[in-house]
Amino acid sequence: MPNRASPAYQARYALRHPGRIGNHLRRWARDAQLRLAHRGHVAYYRAVMRADAARGAEAAVGSKTHESWLRLGQLQFDYLLDHGLKPADRVLDIGCGNLRAGWRFIEYLDTGNYYGIDISPEILLAAQETLTDRSLQAKLPHLTLVSDLTFAFLPDEHFTVVHAHSVFSHSPLEVIDECLMHVGRILAPDGFFDFTFDRTEEVEHQVLREDFYYRTDTLVSLAARRGLSATFMDDWEALPHGQSKIRVTRRGGRSA
Ligand SMILES: C[S@@+](CC[C@H](N)C(=O)[O-])C[C@H]1O[C@@H](n2cnc3c(N)ncnc32)[C@H](O)[C@@H]1O
Repeated sequence: MPNRASPAYQARYALRHPGRIGNHLRRWARDAQLRLAHRGHVAYYRAVMRADAARGAEAAVGSKTHESWLRLGQLQFDYLLDHGLKPADRVLDIGCGNLRAGWRFIEYLDTGNYYGIDISPEILLAAQETLTDRSLQAKLPHLTLVSDLTFAFLPDEHFTVVHAHSVFSHSPLEVIDECLMHVGRILAPDGFFDFTFDRTEEVEHQVLREDFYYRTDTLVSLAARRGLSATFMDDWEALPHGQSKIRVTRRGGRSA
């Protein structure tokens, strides 16, 4: 992955895609404004989501069309199914968005076994709409607004699967570290935590405060410092998705 923050990359990109310059300038101006208004990352990104969700919830979670929203949800669901997901699993979906994958988990899992958390009130309202549209009320999923990833309100060793898709691609390292510091407590001894990230094996960088690119070894080492084992998921690389995936387990727990 090239360094998308470097002036040389941006100049080349602008020459190749002149039609996208206006959009990037709008994002840059919004970033500057939101940086001034919101000091912490969560408050900043919550404001980004408010603005994006106002234009459409599916686009706000990264899908330009309804077809791609359906496809991306199916991809996430099928992957976990291939990795042994069972209706009795208890799933925590971090950054659940408007349930692009979540509605499929809710439909499949036993009643009450899906827990979705997100920092954006607007996207959680859109999640309720997805739930209603899919007639999944009787599955009683939990949808909860959070301001951090300490999981303080959730019980010890409860979740057999924790999942975060396209969340750490929008997170600075301190947010990821906070999650890794606390996720071991709520993971069942045999459970696992899968997350995707935008991978670079060159210089780590970020574009605005919205998109973050990490080296695999940075995230694997971070997990190790928090007493967790982390495995790069090679089988995910074969799938049509631009991000990479790491699976984290408690030391001595199930291996990937
Ligand atoms: C690109 S969307 C992906 C949504 C969902 N995982 C999916 O694949 O459809 C990222 C979501 O993560 C949420 N998010 C970003 N940072 C978060 C954080 N630190 N904690 C919880 N949710 C977060 C955003 O509000 C947004 O709904």
